[in-house]
Amino acid sequence: PMVTLAELMAKAEEGKYAVGAFNCNNMEIVQAIIMAAEAERAPVVIQASQGAIKYAGLDYIVALARLAGDKTSVPVALHLDHGTSFEQCVQCISSGFTSVMIDGSKHALEDNIALTNRVLSVARAVGVSVEAELGKIGGTEDDIHVDEKDALFTDPEEARYFVDKTGVDALAVAIGTAHGQYKGRPELDFDRLAKIEQLVDVPLVLHGSSGVPDEDIRRAIEIGVRKVNIDTNLREAFTEGVREVISQKPNEIDPRKILGPAKERMSEIIREKIRLFGSSNKA
Ligand code: G3H
Ligand code: 13P
Ligand code: ZN
Ligand code: NA
Repeated sequence: PMVTLAELMAKAEEGKYAVGAFNCNNMEIVQAIIMAAEAERAPVVIQASQGAIKYAGLDYIVALARLAGDKTSVPVALHLDHGTSFEQCVQCISSGFTSVMIDGSKHALEDNIALTNRVLSVARAVGVSVEAELGKIGGTEDDIHVDEKDALFTDPEEARYFVDKTGVDALAVAIGTAHGQYKGRPELDFDRLAKIEQLVDVPLVLHGSSGVPDEDIRRAIEIGVRKVNIDTNLREAFTEGVREVISQKPNEIDPRKILGPAKERMSEIIREKIRLFGSSNKA
């Protein structure tokens, strides 16, 4: 069934595991996520970015994800990933999302708080969850120098203030991860993560988690991360699947024979992630 992110986070907090949040852009990805979640008996977040909404259309994303969530026996949240405006969050809330992220991280602290609270006032009225972001999670193309860490990474005291002033259901933190493929091994600031965890009483979200070594993911979950976002790994699996069919059978013209193996590969990687996050058999 469809559930809110808050519900998933409360159970994850109790069981000390993380819920996988996987980005969807089309039917094959939604099906891959649900196949994996069912096989693992795991709760799962299906999330759509602005790019996904632009590509598939908001109505298609909602129809696909809600069909999947309504039909399945595992709990599914449909979540807006990196929403940047109040209007977009409201549109997703009224279209059937059970959770939205308002990413006000590019704004000054007080503006981020005000924007987040505007979204919260609407979301709370209809029982939709809200994730916010504090600190700047870069792209892997953005090289972060050590002296920039304090400016870019989430400040623990600021996190406490932010959560006090908003009361969000989940908080995305910047501790050294980045969106996209990493050039080398990312260096996560676990001390900072632990400090944030001590100061705030809210489930923490790790973005840019594709390419983060398994042991680092485990350590982040041990400290208190309860939602782990994965997109790039699904793109890789999808593309590898498509490439393999096309190179092995250059005359193949049936899209189902090309996308079927891609879907299987995505589902496999999602199952691996679910096991890594400790959310197997938590449905
Ligand atoms: O956070 C970024 C996600 O990987 C979504 O990326 O905006 O290209 O869909 P996108
Ligand atoms: P990756 O693409 O690095 O897995 O990041 C996904 C993400 O954080 C979506 O919000
Ligand atoms: Zn992200
Ligand atoms: Na990444």
